[in-house]
Amino acid sequence: MTAKILNGKEIAKSKRADIKVKVDSLKKKGIIPGLAVILVGEDSASQTYVRSKQKACQTAGIHSVLIELPESTSEQQLLTEIERLNQDQSIDGILVQLPLPTQISEYAILEKITPHKDVDGFHPSNIGKLVIGERGFIPCTPYGILEMLRASEVHIEGKHVVVVGRSNIVGKPVGQLLLNEHATVTYCHSKTENLEMITSQADILIVAVGRARFIKATAVKKGAVVIDVGINRVQEQLVGDVDFHEVKEVASYITPVPGGVGPMTITMLLENTVQSASRRELWSC
Ligand code: GUN
Repeated sequence: MTAKILNGKEIAKSKRADIKVKVDSLKKKGIIPGLAVILVGEDSASQTYVRSKQKACQTAGIHSVLIELPESTSEQQLLTEIERLNQDQSIDGILVQLPLPTQISEYAILEKITPHKDVDGFHPSNIGKLVIGERGFIPCTPYGILEMLRASEVHIEGKHVVVVGRSNIVGKPVGQLLLNEHATVTYCHSKTENLEMITSQADILIVAVGRARFIKATAVKKGAVVIDVGINRVQEQLVGDVDFHEVKEVASYITPVPGGVGPMTITMLLENTVQSASRRELWSC
């Protein structure tokens, strides 16, 4: 068996076209969706991600503001900046690129962003809503994975989803999101015993561990859907957390790296920003 490729780039392209239509419609009503991105320090991977986010905003017609702060920024300075953006009527979404320098508490910063502008979906209020199945902003990578599965008509209800990785950004929320879609969800992580025994029972296997080619064919059930969230640089090449060449011979669907989950993450950031801007329309009625 050679797996079908879940082409995130293509799915994202089609979704971004729909988003552009929504942006144009809002603009006709005098609403220009606005996203503020804060980058603290000079981490080169973060700089690359932020640039991609800005470019995507530009293409979609979303007003984007980049706030670059030095590595030495204090927690208080960043909190003050967020408060200013919370009050700024032209800004619908606020994103603080992670990771942050060690002198700044990530939790304090994420909690400061008003939940109505939390387009990353990381505020405890939005995470809480996700857990109890209420409407709120959904974190972009999990949301992108769900949309990708939907676009490819992968059946989720009743399926066994195994998530490898338990980060607050991807692992935990993606499991929760798919639980809400009536999947049976198992979480695995670095301390899990007999990892392959568990992953090989997955109908849908989601891997977000940040270890290059970590999941081999022996860890995957024949016909499984494999979602690779990893982006690792190996000898100037980008590779995922899944050994693509081995696993594609076992899986029914697989996401490539690059061109899989990555473009979907940015697309859902645009979607969340437009959703936030749409609420301005409701207020002005
Ligand atoms: N760092 C890595 N991924 C993300 C993300 O999705 N959002 C933010 N804010 N920072 C990140």
